[in-house]
Amino acid sequence: MSHPLTIRRPAFDFDGVSFHWHPSPALSAIGNATSFGAVAFERMVVHAVRESLPLIEDAELHDEAKAFIAQEAVHSAAHRSHARALVEAHPELGGTQDRVDALCEELFGGRSLKARLGFAAVLEGVLPAVARHMIETRDTLFEGADPRVSALLIWHFCEEIEHEATAVRLFQHLYPGSWRAARIPLALKFVAKFTRLMEREFSEHAPARQRRDRWAHDPEWRRIGRLVRRTALSPWPVYDPEEERMPEWARGYLARVAEGDDPVAAMG
Ligand SMILES: [Fe+2]
Ligand SMILES: [Fe+2]
Repeated sequence: MSHPLTIRRPAFDFDGVSFHWHPSPALSAIGNATSFGAVAFERMVVHAVRESLPLIEDAELHDEAKAFIAQEAVHSAAHRSHARALVEAHPELGGTQDRVDALCEELFGGRSLKARLGFAAVLEGVLPAVARHMIETRDTLFEGADPRVSALLIWHFCEEIEHEATAVRLFQHLYPGSWRAARIPLALKFVAKFTRLMEREFSEHAPARQRRDRWAHDPEWRRIGRLVRRTALSPWPVYDPEEERMPEWARGYLARVAEGDDPVAAMG
């Protein structure tokens, strides 16, 4: 069932944001990598969905796809401002965004629309489980962290729950009978290559070295491991994309942001 999407444009100010925005080195690195990655990933998704617009024969789904594009474009812009603030604070990261963009181009540049939309449906399908985990554990997950980056992630992932089913519905509408799970190898390749690239970028250019052997001792990994197990099934046909219900807290939070409340203050 289709539903209208609200386009919220929260104002973030990341001036002076630190690379170490979180007490956990692993979560600092993951949050920062999310911003560099979201800029490139969401641009690719926006282009693919825009390309598919003339092919959509259902008026309601067509409107929803346009709203989806608008939401993702706002996500991309917010993460870009975070990434730029990081580069301003740490000029050594000045080439990172270009290298992430180049990786996306290398992986998706020559792919068919079906492959790109299938890939988008797989990753979009995983994000709501991540979002739910984030929302449910927000008090401890973001303890001691810069609330601006916490709010950026919370707002973005609340909206990921909101529009998750759009990418899946779009794929099923255009390619009925096809499995989005067929793109799992491409999704895994993207995640592996992106993780390796960010590890290299942060090891070589971050203010304090973010090596994997340091991450390995971070207690956050145990929680992340549980989350990975929860998300592993999401791209398969047994998983209903409507399954990740929007938690009450997230519904209230998005309503406050839509009314123009400050996205950081609205977290409290
Ligand atoms: Fe997004
Ligand atoms: Fe999304």
